[in-house]
Amino acid sequence: MLPHPVKKKRPREPKPTPPADPGHPVRFPEVVLCLVEKRMGATRKAFLTTLARSKGFCVEDAKSERVTHVVSEGNSGDEVVKWLKRNGNCYMDAVGSGPALLDLSWFTESMSAGRPVEIKRKHCLEVTAHAEKLEGDSQVAAYACQRRTPLTHNNAALTEALETMAEEAHFCGSEVRSLGFTRAASVLKALSWAVRRVQELSGLPCIGEHSKRIIQEMLEDGMSAEVEGVRQSDRYQTMKLFTKIFGVGVKTASRWYQEGLRTLADLQVHRTKLNKEQQAGLLHYKDLNTPVERPEAEAIAQVVQEVAEQLLPGASVTLIGGFRRGKRSGHDVDLLITHPAEGQEAGLLSKIIGWLESQDFLLYHSSRRNTFQYFEEEEEQEISSSASGMDRFERCLSIFRLGNCPGAVQGGAGAQKPGASGSWKAIRVDFVVAPCSQFPFALLGWTGSKNFERDLRRFSKQEKKMTLNSHSLYHMEQKTFLSAASEEEIFQHLGLEYIPPEERNA
Ligand code: CTP
Ligand code: MN
Ligand code: MN
Repeated sequence: MLPHPVKKKRPREPKPTPPADPGHPVRFPEVVLCLVEKRMGATRKAFLTTLARSKGFCVEDAKSERVTHVVSEGNSGDEVVKWLKRNGNCYMDAVGSGPALLDLSWFTESMSAGRPVEIKRKHCLEVTAHAEKLEGDSQVAAYACQRRTPLTHNNAALTEALETMAEEAHFCGSEVRSLGFTRAASVLKALSWAVRRVQELSGLPCIGEHSKRIIQEMLEDGMSAEVEGVRQSDRYQTMKLFTKIFGVGVKTASRWYQEGLRTLADLQVHRTKLNKEQQAGLLHYKDLNTPVERPEAEAIAQVVQEVAEQLLPGASVTLIGGFRRGKRSGHDVDLLITHPAEGQEAGLLSKIIGWLESQDFLLYHSSRRNTFQYFEEEEEQEISSSASGMDRFERCLSIFRLGNCPGAVQGGAGAQKPGASGSWKAIRVDFVVAPCSQFPFALLGWTGSKNFERDLRRFSKQEKKMTLNSHSLYHMEQKTFLSAASEEEIFQHLGLEYIPPEERNA
C-alpha cells in the first residue's frame, strides 16, 4: 500500500495572546506564563490562557522577556527550545538560567490549586544540554590544529576509554581504526563542557559509530563493557607490557605474544634475542616507566644547555615535546638544540653526546647523522611523501642517568645502582638539532601532540596544497618554500589562528 501523501504544512504563525483580562487582576506577578502553541493548538491555547487569567495568572507571548514559566503539551524540551527561538524568544540559554520549561501537568496542578505549585522534577522538560551552544557557538573544527585543546579538559573518563580502544586497535595493526578513536577522543578534549548525553555529540566532527557506542555505554552505565573487556584481555595486557620496553614496537611485541611469551621474565627464560636498545630498555624498565617530572626535565635541559654553551658559545637548548605543552610529567625529555649562526650547529650534537658520555651521564645512546643534504636532492615527489614521516635532523635517542637531586646533577662515575635505588634515575632523553633557518619548523614539529602534528600536516596538504614537516613548508602549486622566523609565521602561512603550545594537547 502506498503511504498517504503528506501535505507539507507551512509553519503556522502563533496567534498573538490576547491582552490581560481586565476582569481578573494579576495575583502572581512574579510568575509569567507562556503557552506553547505547537501540538497544543490555537483553540486549546486560547482556552487555557483564559483559564489561567481567570485564576489571576499573567500570560504573555513567547517574545516577552518577562516569561518565567513556559508550558507545553506533548513536546520534548528540545522542541520547546526550538519553538521558543523560532517565535522570537532569545532568553533561552544553555546554562538553564532562562525560563522554566514545564509540562502541562504543572499547569493543571496549579490551576486546581489556584496558585503556582512548586516546580518538581516530574514537571520539567529535559533539554539536551548545550544544544544551543552547538548550534550557535559554531561547530567544533574538524582539524585538531584549528582547535584549542588544553591539557586538562572535561571529558577524561570518556577520552581514556576511547584511547584504550585506539591503543588496542594499534596493537592489532589497525591504524585506521586506531586513528578513528584517537580523533574522537581529541574532539572531546576540546569541548568546554562535560558530555552528559549522547545527543550532544550530534554536530561534532570525527565521532564515528563505534566511538559513539563506547561513549553511550560510558554515559549510561558509567563504564563500557567493551573497553573493560579489552583492558582485561591477556593480549592487550601483554602487548602493553612489552611495548613499554624502550625499543620494542607493536611488531616485536606481537611476535613475542604469538610465541607464548607473557612476562618480562619470560624474555630472559627463553633467551629472547634483544637488540642493544631493547636490552637497555629492559634493564631500566622500571625507571623508564616511571613518569619523568618537570623538575627532572628542567635539570637535564640545564645540564645540556651548559655543555652546549661551553662547546659552542651561543648554542641554545629548548625543552620541547609534552613539557613545552605544559605537561607536568611525561615519558621522556625532548630537547631541541640550535645556534643563531646557520651551519654552526653542525657536529655539535656528537660533541655534546661525547662529553655526556665521558661524564657517565649516558646509560645508552644511539645517534643518527643529519640526512637533510640528501633529502634536499630528492625529487619533489619524495619531499611531499616524506611530509608524514620522520624528519632528517641530526638526532640522538638516549637514556640519561640523572642524580637524585635535580639541580645538583651528577653522572656518578662507575656507580652501581644500589639495591635500595634512589641515588639516580634512568630517564629517556631525545635530542634533536636544527639549523636556525629551520628552527621554527622543528619547534612546531616537535612540540606535538602527535595528533596535533598529524592534523597540521593533513590540513596543510588537503586544505592549502602545502606540505609541512619539521624542516619546511612547501607550496605544491607555486613550487616554493615559505620561510618563517617563528611558529606564528607558520600558522599565518597556513591561514590558521595561532594556537599556543599549551593548547596543542589534542
Ligand atoms: N616526534 C617526531 N618523530 C619521532 C618521534 C617524535 O617527530 N620519531 C615528535 C612527535 O610528533 C611529538 C614530539 O616529537 O610532537 C614529542 O614526541 P614524544 O616524546 O613521543 O611525545 P610527547 O608529546 O612529548 O609526550 P610524552 O610526555 O609522553 O613524552
Ligand atoms: Mn616527550
Ligand atoms: Mn620523545
